[in-house]
Amino acid sequence: MKGKISMVNKVLISAIIVLCVTDIFAQSSINNASYVGDTTCESCHTKQSETFSKNIHNKAYTVIKDTERFKKLKADGEEGRCLKCHVTGYGGNGGFIDEKTTPELAKVGCEGCHGPGSDHKAVNSDEIAEKKKTILRKPSCGTCHLIHSHEG
Ligand code: HEC
Ligand code: HEC
Ligand code: HEC
Ligand code: HEC
Repeated sequence: MKGKISMVNKVLISAIIVLCVTDIFAQSSINNASYVGDTTCESCHTKQSETFSKNIHNKAYTVIKDTERFKKLKADGEEGRCLKCHVTGYGGNGGFIDEKTTPELAKVGCEGCHGPGSDHKAVNSDEIAEKKKTILRKPSCGTCHLIHSHEG
């Protein structure tokens, strides 16, 4: 019995290691990329862009920008506490800075979920495998959607 459990554990542990390594690879290929904005994605992914246009993530910045809480935090230079989940790429390479400088990133746009897209954009479109390697297919919703609290 004991032997069986440890066998199950071994399988589980290996599965977890494989998952982690896969994830690190998926992440590292886009680590040096920068944010380019939704308009760039639209030109090739028309269908996804159309379906996304009415998605609530487009309003992620609109819903916070006029709240008293956000305005106060912004006045104190603490707006990052909200922006890390309510815009695209805050603190990242070429990511959101403020509404005036980076208006296109003032929402949770394509790259808010799929990661920065400059490398992906640069790859030739007939190199499908390389295209796929340079962008996240499966976003992790959990970085913004916390289970037990809103802000963490
Ligand atoms: C020059 C054309 C082009 C641009 C610009 C472009 N893509 Fe792609 N994208 C492709 C091609 C080609 C593929 C591979 C074939 C496919 O899955 O449709 C792809 C695949 C993807 C995939 C699926 C990856 C996978 O592993 O299956 C995602 C997600 C994606 N792109 C998101 C984006 C985002 C976000 C942007 C904007 C930052 C973007 N793309 C810009 C052409 C482009
Ligand atoms: C860890 C990520 C995260 C942080 C940090 C965060 N939010 Fe949110 N926020 C979310 C998510 C996810 C939703 C949508 C789901 C929900 O309502 O919990 C949301 C929804 C909202 C909404 C609309 C829904 C509602 O509750 O009325 C407002 C307003 C809001 N957040 C304000 C803020 C403000 C202000 C800050 C900074 C003090 C902030 N958020 C920080 C992730 C975050
Ligand atoms: C809130 C997160 C989120 C945002 C924002 C988002 N996507 Fe996606 N996208 C997903 C998920 C989830 C999938 C499905 C992944 C899977 O199951 O394989 C996906 C899949 C895709 C695919 C792969 C083909 C397909 O349809 O399954 C492409 C291409 C894509 N998205 C492009 C875009 C573009 C372009 C934008 C912006 C206009 C965008 N996405 C915005 C979450 C998002
Ligand atoms: C970069 C942060 C971020 C990521 C990643 C993200 N979301 Fe969101 N999501 C938000 C914010 C912020 C809102 C609130 C927007 C608003 O109220 O306008 C939201 C709203 C939502 C809502 C509607 C509010 C609710 O909770 O009922 C759903 C559903 C949702 N997201 C699903 C997803 C899924 C599924 C994924 C992963 C594929 C995902 N989100 C990834 C930030 C994020």
